[in-house]
Amino acid sequence: MSTATVEIPTHQTVTTFLDAPRKVLIGGRWLEAASGKTFPTYNPATGEVLAQVAEGNSTDVDRAVTAARNAFESGPWRTFTASERGRLIWKLADLVESHLEEFAQLESLDNGKPVGVARVADVPLAVDLFRYMAGWSTKIEGHTIPISVPYMPGARYLAYTLREPVGVVAQIIPWNFPLLMAAWKLGPALAAGCTVVLKPAEQTPLSALRLGELICEAGFPDGVVNIVPGYGETAGAALAAHPDVDKVAFTGSTEVGKLILRAAAGNLKKVSLELGGKSPNIVCKDADLEASIPGVASAIFFNQGQCCCAGSRLFVEKGIFDKVVAGVAEEAKKIKVGPGMDPATQMGPLVSDEQQRRVLGYLESGFSEGAKAVVGGRKLGDKGYFVEPTVLVNTTQTMKIMQEEIFGPVVCAVPFTDVGKVIQAANDSIYGLAAAVWTRDVGNAHRIAAELRAGSVWVNCYNIFDAALPFGGYKQSGWGREMGHDALELYTEVKAVTVQL
Ligand code: NAI
Ligand code: MG
Repeated sequence: MSTATVEIPTHQTVTTFLDAPRKVLIGGRWLEAASGKTFPTYNPATGEVLAQVAEGNSTDVDRAVTAARNAFESGPWRTFTASERGRLIWKLADLVESHLEEFAQLESLDNGKPVGVARVADVPLAVDLFRYMAGWSTKIEGHTIPISVPYMPGARYLAYTLREPVGVVAQIIPWNFPLLMAAWKLGPALAAGCTVVLKPAEQTPLSALRLGELICEAGFPDGVVNIVPGYGETAGAALAAHPDVDKVAFTGSTEVGKLILRAAAGNLKKVSLELGGKSPNIVCKDADLEASIPGVASAIFFNQGQCCCAGSRLFVEKGIFDKVVAGVAEEAKKIKVGPGMDPATQMGPLVSDEQQRRVLGYLESGFSEGAKAVVGGRKLGDKGYFVEPTVLVNTTQTMKIMQEEIFGPVVCAVPFTDVGKVIQAANDSIYGLAAAVWTRDVGNAHRIAAELRAGSVWVNCYNIFDAALPFGGYKQSGWGREMGHDALELYTEVKAVTVQL
């Protein structure tokens, strides 16, 4: 870990934002929580309290859902043209962009990630997502459909479909990309004309609350976006179970995803889920190692390994196994680990002490089952929630560390001899979010891509995201696709209209 850290001075607006207690956004107004309670959010680089945030509970959720319902049923939002919705979303994108540095710093302070990464990834991707979805507002179309109706001989009909907003949407998001996850959720919902109650993660509520201020500034009508920070078991559970919510969208653990599903059963609200992963990263003998070694390292170490699609299982063809593992270990050693606000930092702390304990617990479990660290394997420093970038070998398919999502900077490397067998091993997981293959053989690349059971497959690259590309999981990695035009399906209902002529 870099010892003498020089942190960038905190942006004045960030300091001001952190100093005042952050509130709940309901019906266009910033309010105290109904209970009057607040909860702390921490700086993961130091473990110190960063800000106090209103602790929303079921009463706040109830009020927020009522505000969203009113905005959906009778507010001006309902009569906005598609073009007006698009222009507002675009304006929000411009506002976020003009506050890029502020968002990058908030994200770094609250989540721990390097400010330099937030500047080039989190914030611009959120801006781009809003712009992409702004464009979709005017392109949400139905079809005209020729119908025959055999039991009505001679009758003629005009039949068409309408795509309408699904209604009041609850969105529960995680802490790994706080602003970006808010954008992934809000963008398509607003493009479709829904109203929203958003619950950010308790570990990282700040950027969503700042976004809420910009949503008000952009001129979205009151109640179109409501934001209720709070804990999962209280605010989150109340949202998922609420009888007046039409749809819930969730990103987080598979375990909580299953709870959301059960809670949603009460009123059969629509559900979309973006859950865990244990993504395989396959390096074939003919791969360009100069590209694949750093590619494999960044697949697991990006965002401190806290990515649902992290390349956490590394399969390397025999013959190049030692070389690739040594290369990835070398990359791990070069990573500058430190506080996110130090501009030299390449990897920050994990988001919380809980997450640090969870990752260290997995390391312990791996070692007790016979895994060996080529590099890393321990916590780092005595302040903040740092864990060393870690490469493990002697890992086998049945080990807990090969089956479960670690969500930290830890990769398990395994050699393979046969392409058929490696596909089998890659697919031997309850998850199916992402996968990658590194090879120069174009036929092999497409064959493997077709056989991998995953929502995203990268060939000779990793973690390539675009607002236009759908993202989501097979198997227990989730339901539905976010981003791309597929995302609009999550937020629209189809209505068939039949007119007798
Ligand atoms: P989590 O699934 O508990 O948290 C995600 C969101 O769900 C947060 O907003 C939280 O407040 C909310 N939540 C928690 N319990 C809820 C409930 N009963 N009803 C409604 N909402 C609820 O994730 P956690 O505990 O922070 O992390 C645990 C593990 O989950 C990680 O180690 C990682 O494996 C996985 N995870 C996956 C993410 C992904 O991007 N797919 C993101 C975050 C965590
Ligand atoms: Mg939790």
